[in-house]
Amino acid sequence: MQTHEIRDRFTQHFVDAGHTAVPSASLILDDPTLLFVNAGMVPFKPYFLGQQNPPFENRTATSIQKCVRTLDIDEVGITTRHNTFFQMAGNFSFGGYFKEGAIRNAWSLLTKPVAEGGFGLDPERLWVTVYLDDDEAADIWENIVGVPAERIQRMGMEDNYWSMGVPGPCGPCSEIYYDRGPDYGAEGGPEADEHRYMEIWNLVFMQYERGPSDENGNFEILGELPQKNIDTGLGIERVACLLQGVDNVYETDLLRPVINVAEELTGATYNENHDNDVRFRVIADHTRTAMMLILDGVTPSNEGRGYILRRLMRRVIRSARLLGAESKTLESFLATVMDTMSPSFPEIEDNRDRILRVAATEEKAFLRTLESGTELFDRTAASIKEAGKTTVGGHQAFELHDTYGFPIDLTLEMAAEAGLEVDMDGFNAEMTAQRERAKADNKAKKHGHADESVYRQWVDDNPTEFLGYEQLTADATVLGLVRGGQSVTTAKAGDEIEVILDVTPLYAESGGQLADRGRLVAGDTVIEVKDVQKIAKRVFVHKATVVSGGVELGMSVKAEVDETWRHGARQAHTATHLIHGALRQVLGPTAVQAGSLNRPGYLRFDFNYTEQLSDEQLEEIALIANQVVDADYPVNTVETTLDEAKAMGALALFGENYGDNVRVVEVAGPFSTELCGGTHVASSAQIGPVAVLGESSVGSGARRIEAYSGMDAFRYYSREAALVSGVASTLKAKSDDLPARISQLTERLKAAEKEIAALHQQQLMSNTAALVDEAETLGDVTVLIRQLPDGVTGGDLRTVGSDLRGKLAGRPAVVVLASRNDAKLPFVVAATAEAVDMGVKAGDLVKTFGEYVDGRGGGKPDMAQGSGATPEGAEAGFRAVKDALGGL
Ligand code: ALA
Repeated sequence: MQTHEIRDRFTQHFVDAGHTAVPSASLILDDPTLLFVNAGMVPFKPYFLGQQNPPFENRTATSIQKCVRTLDIDEVGITTRHNTFFQMAGNFSFGGYFKEGAIRNAWSLLTKPVAEGGFGLDPERLWVTVYLDDDEAADIWENIVGVPAERIQRMGMEDNYWSMGVPGPCGPCSEIYYDRGPDYGAEGGPEADEHRYMEIWNLVFMQYERGPSDENGNFEILGELPQKNIDTGLGIERVACLLQGVDNVYETDLLRPVINVAEELTGATYNENHDNDVRFRVIADHTRTAMMLILDGVTPSNEGRGYILRRLMRRVIRSARLLGAESKTLESFLATVMDTMSPSFPEIEDNRDRILRVAATEEKAFLRTLESGTELFDRTAASIKEAGKTTVGGHQAFELHDTYGFPIDLTLEMAAEAGLEVDMDGFNAEMTAQRERAKADNKAKKHGHADESVYRQWVDDNPTEFLGYEQLTADATVLGLVRGGQSVTTAKAGDEIEVILDVTPLYAESGGQLADRGRLVAGDTVIEVKDVQKIAKRVFVHKATVVSGGVELGMSVKAEVDETWRHGARQAHTATHLIHGALRQVLGPTAVQAGSLNRPGYLRFDFNYTEQLSDEQLEEIALIANQVVDADYPVNTVETTLDEAKAMGALALFGENYGDNVRVVEVAGPFSTELCGGTHVASSAQIGPVAVLGESSVGSGARRIEAYSGMDAFRYYSREAALVSGVASTLKAKSDDLPARISQLTERLKAAEKEIAALHQQQLMSNTAALVDEAETLGDVTVLIRQLPDGVTGGDLRTVGSDLRGKLAGRPAVVVLASRNDAKLPFVVAATAEAVDMGVKAGDLVKTFGEYVDGRGGGKPDMAQGSGATPEGAEAGFRAVKDALGGL
């Protein structure tokens, strides 16, 4: 029985029993505790917890959920039991039926004959387990279903108590096993041998809520759930093994074809030696998982989900290489697995090209990396061994990573294969040092000089206190002055300086928000601040011009933020959060922030996404952002620990280095929660309108949305409106009628152009007809050579040429025409049939002429044409053609 049929039977069985069939959720759900959906019940969590009412008739549902578990990626293939992707079929009851219903439903599907829509498993081979003290379940199995007592076993917490591994719903469970027979192991039920007795179905009696785990993985039961629930999980792939009579998942209709293709492409054979078998299985398993991840929108990257995808694909490519493949393989593997999976997931077909594209790009890049890196690694490994050592140094691993883009896990794998270890502490230290260097470099660029030691005294002793969240002016003391990279004690009017204060209300550029503009004043001293940068995260450096008066160390100044500037900056920054939130609603959580910039009135937001957004998506993003403005949600900020912030679901830029205390900015609703140090409006209506300008690509895999906020958005709209009404009044149409009007005009223009062209030709023809009389005779050949007035196109020359040739037909005749057209000189040569019979070749004449006008061309003996770049040579060219014809 094919896998998709097993799926269909499962769904039908439960639909017949009154369940609502729910399609699989995406592998990527916005659940901060999970990288990927890893069980069928995940999308139903709010119903189990009573946070939401289940919208299903009879309070029951059934689904076949795509699941990915990547914890034991390294185990894949070593045995046949680990798979990173699988399909979990489940039935769920939220306060509907409980233990008896779940047990009866499961048993009947498993044992119902195939002819009646069941799986037709032999009841004699089924065993069950129940939780230690679950007499109720044991009783149902024995007395209602009729499973003999000796095939009901009791198991503890470890096996028969299920939770997601994190706080949430949980409960005791009962599992169903199939006895695969003595070939597979010892007798004695699942207690004795889980290989022989294969677990196929887990029935969870979900009725409690658990707390966090302690260090031993134990947890407290916090209390009962609002109702008693059922959550079950049947492994579709495992049932496929049983019903297809094969030993393991790799032999089923879903994966075996991939192994077959791998055999063809690599020349190696499956089931010959263990090392190769592991590689075959890695290829089959990872290809499928990678395909399903790309299908759900993951793109390869260096972090998070994208990194897992990248790792899976790279392991496939490398395994194929090790099996002997010499060229690309990934696309063939993917195409095969798409074929095997698409009966169950028809959406694969619509995404086939996209999936192959992602794979092709990744494979190309990785093969380049592999080539250069493998060579270097082999050399490194050889020299290490020669030196009698067993460890790849941290610096060596770092060089592979830094210079050759070799991911560290690949180095680890290759080292293990070569019998070497890797100094990971050393590697990590190099990585940290590199990050610091990069940061310092960036700062240095910003400051125009590399030496930051001038700021050292303030970094160490006088970090600046930022007061600008609460106030826009502050009394401050000048602690430092820097001019031209040197610390100085005074500055006078006209000087460009950097000022360091003890406290400041001016925001320094960070988190994508540009620095505040403002002033430092004291008596007649006025210093304009144009930029503020932070050094070492501690010292605010005000880049400024002394406009009047003078300044010296120790002086008291009033620091003032330009209020209009700050107002605009706040609007733009909160608007950035709205765009981010809206984007995630529209594109899903795969659209991960890649960077942003905002300044008064304008923002841009970059995110990882491979496809262009449609106009509808953009419009929806703009709509959501403006609805949030309209709803006037409060914008709250709290200072808290990073852990707390994560627990609040705050979005953070990956790889960003956040301190112990972080600031969380929440647009209530709740609409968005982000880690952010920026300045924000107090409630969303203060942003004013948000005008989305459009989106564009910014390099590989990233896209950018740009928008105006506040008055700039208003000005943008009013400019657009003025433009439209201007056009409307010129066209004397109502603005609603503009599109129709413009396409009407375009049509008319096209028709008019066509008509002009026709007239033009007619005119040309009537003007040139008279030319026939001017033909001269060279020996036996009639020759008509002419430079027509400027501006005749090559196409028209051809028409005229062939017309004249027609008029000269019946005798050997050659027509040569040219015309200056801008800086070019198109030309044609046409010959009558009689001339061709005499040996004239229009193509040759075109070449002859072309030599004098810097041109090229060609054609047939009776008609050829070309174009020259130096029209001045035409006269000489005509003479040369005549000479050639005279020689005939
Ligand atoms: N949620 C249960 C499992 O994943 C059915 O095994």
